[in-house]
Amino acid sequence: MSLVLGIESSCDETSAAVVRGERRVLSNIVASSLAFHRRYGGVVPEAACRAHVEVIWPVVEQALAEAKVRLPELDAIAVTCGPGLVGALLVGVAFAKGLACALDKPLIGVSHLAAHLYAGVMAQRGPVFPCVGLIVSGGHTLLVEARDIDDFVRLGETRDDAAGEAFDKVAKLLGLGYPGGPLIERRALDGEASRVRLPSPGLDDETLDFSFSGLKTAVLYHVRGQPMHNGASVRTVNDVAASFQRVTVEALVRKAIAASLRVKARRLIVGGGVAANQALRQALTRAGRAAGVRVWFPPMALCIDNAAMIAGLGAALFRRGVRSPLSLSVDPGLGLAVQSGGGHRG
Ligand code: KG4
Ligand code: ZN
Repeated sequence: MSLVLGIESSCDETSAAVVRGERRVLSNIVASSLAFHRRYGGVVPEAACRAHVEVIWPVVEQALAEAKVRLPELDAIAVTCGPGLVGALLVGVAFAKGLACALDKPLIGVSHLAAHLYAGVMAQRGPVFPCVGLIVSGGHTLLVEARDIDDFVRLGETRDDAAGEAFDKVAKLLGLGYPGGPLIERRALDGEASRVRLPSPGLDDETLDFSFSGLKTAVLYHVRGQPMHNGASVRTVNDVAASFQRVTVEALVRKAIAASLRVKARRLIVGGGVAANQALRQALTRAGRAAGVRVWFPPMALCIDNAAMIAGLGAALFRRGVRSPLSLSVDPGLGLAVQSGGGHRG
């Protein structure tokens, strides 16, 4: 079985992981510069890049030590080459290239989006593909027919903000801080989800697309003029959080099940930071059961950005003969394509 080192640096997490075979995580170290960005209400790209430069080597060393694997034992090095912040991606890709070159090991460029879906595969034993994939992260909201680990057909996507981005922006409007997802989820537990009427981001039944801009604006109008930062507003914040989460989860569930029925898929995998949301996990699992669709979420540690999913997908691609050249370039707008920079199948 192969031993693959994965490296992830597309946003504010610097992560390294070692995976045995294609699914067994031996180590998964994540260092985040989130604490720095929090005071600015979003990721500051230059600060994220500097943090990557500082910690990437210690993070890789720790991942190897925890996995009890030495560099020469590795079979390949997989790295996120897009999508993401260009400078942040460059740190990981340059580091991976250097390592691949020095060790004379194959380099495999991996799409961060495809890896988010692969995270849902890693906890399973049996076959997963073909299935429908729902990617819900800070940058993407995408429904695809996943025919294989590297063969996707787009079914629907957001026309404006991503689901995670909507959680972040609504949390900001409510004065909750960053990142918004976990904060909204916590406040929603104490809120009344039917008290505030908000438009669905799910559009009409004709499309599998989403739009979060109307929802975000509706929250803005609702909270405008209300004192959001004192004790009297706690109930308003909780109710808006619960109502926003309810319409968002309801739309994601409705579209994901509709997509599965449309392509006659019996399996659905969900990936990305928003897949950590318990309300989404429960509602989608329940709706899937009713519709005869098995729904798979990654374990919590593999929902947010991490290198285990990069190493896992890298290992699966490695077994299929995929190799990237040392000229591999970063592609900040990369979609689900598994390679960029002129890679080829060996
Ligand atoms: O996948 P991810 O770590 O980074 C990207 O690739 O974008 O996703 C980060 C996003 C953020 O927008 C964050 O607010 C959201 O995932 N998120 C959540 C939860 N945990 C993280 N959204 C809803 N509920 C959560 N529990
Ligand atoms: Zn991500």
